[in-house]
Amino acid sequence: MYRNPYLSWYELALKSLNYSVLGKARTKDFKKVVLTGMGGSGIICDAIYTVLFSNSEVPVSVVKGFQPPKWVDSETLVCGISYSGNTVETISVVLKSMELGAEVCAVASGGKLLEIARSKNLPHVIVDGGLLPRVAFPQLLIATIKILDVYGIKVCDNLGEIIDVLKERSIADYISKELADFLKESLPVIISNNEMYPLALRFKDELNENAKMIAKVEVIPEWAHNDIVGWELPINLEVLRALIIWSDDPIIEFASNYLREVGVKTYIFKLLGYGVLSKVLYGSLVAGLTTTYLAELRGIKADETKSIDEYKKFLSSIKGRFKVFY
Ligand code: PA5
Repeated sequence: MYRNPYLSWYELALKSLNYSVLGKARTKDFKKVVLTGMGGSGIICDAIYTVLFSNSEVPVSVVKGFQPPKWVDSETLVCGISYSGNTVETISVVLKSMELGAEVCAVASGGKLLEIARSKNLPHVIVDGGLLPRVAFPQLLIATIKILDVYGIKVCDNLGEIIDVLKERSIADYISKELADFLKESLPVIISNNEMYPLALRFKDELNENAKMIAKVEVIPEWAHNDIVGWELPINLEVLRALIIWSDDPIIEFASNYLREVGVKTYIFKLLGYGVLSKVLYGSLVAGLTTTYLAELRGIKADETKSIDEYKKFLSSIKGRFKVFY
């Protein structure tokens, strides 16, 4: 085992290529897809959504909350992802979708979600437990791709190929140290295009959870229709740092030049990998390493997320008092 759990991602991903899908699909005849999960599990929904946005014949939605959309019915496939299997929002969407007659499948390492899937013999993948949800990113991604494959939803043709980029850990580690130094004591603004939005969001989430920092995400071209104006008047730029998730896109180049011209310190983050998923995996490896280095620099524990635990305790204390819960 490596000192930093992110550095064992390649081995963990390789192991998860052997995951099998348990349970049985009731129907493979659906016209809509909902992916649901929160935080480190929810980001899997965003990554897969981005791929399916350009590939899928059927509409796909991501739900991060308690309620499934009104249109969920017997012609909808709902995939619930929760590493712990105990996330109230995810379980709520899954149970309500089942009530609406949807075909449901699940990815979890245990908990109530796994209990539901087992008791109803729903298609499910059990991922290895004992990690923090955010560290289990490659396993959750592979498990979800495998379960969707059962339904004929092709997210990726060759899983072995997309994880190959995780072997580049020395490069990732080198860049992460540089990035940690660039981002320390700052308010990072992460900018990407729509395709790399899951990575921009993932980077923000890792800064929040591992490094206990506030960060914001801006996506082009939408950025150029609002946020761009916010930089027009002089502001105190000292604390701001722009992290540009680079892509071969003239608007990204425009955004990066614009921010430099207004005086923001910018870092161009060039990704390794081919295709959305391998780039997101590589970028997430860098995000994980960068934010654990930042935690070290800040003298805090990367693996502790006290306020999320507090929120989860609050949720269980009000369970049953509101209709939104299961
Ligand atoms: O990374 C984390 O620890 C969190 O963002 C969790 O993923 C989030 O709270 C949801 O929990 P789970 O992934 O177990 O459903």
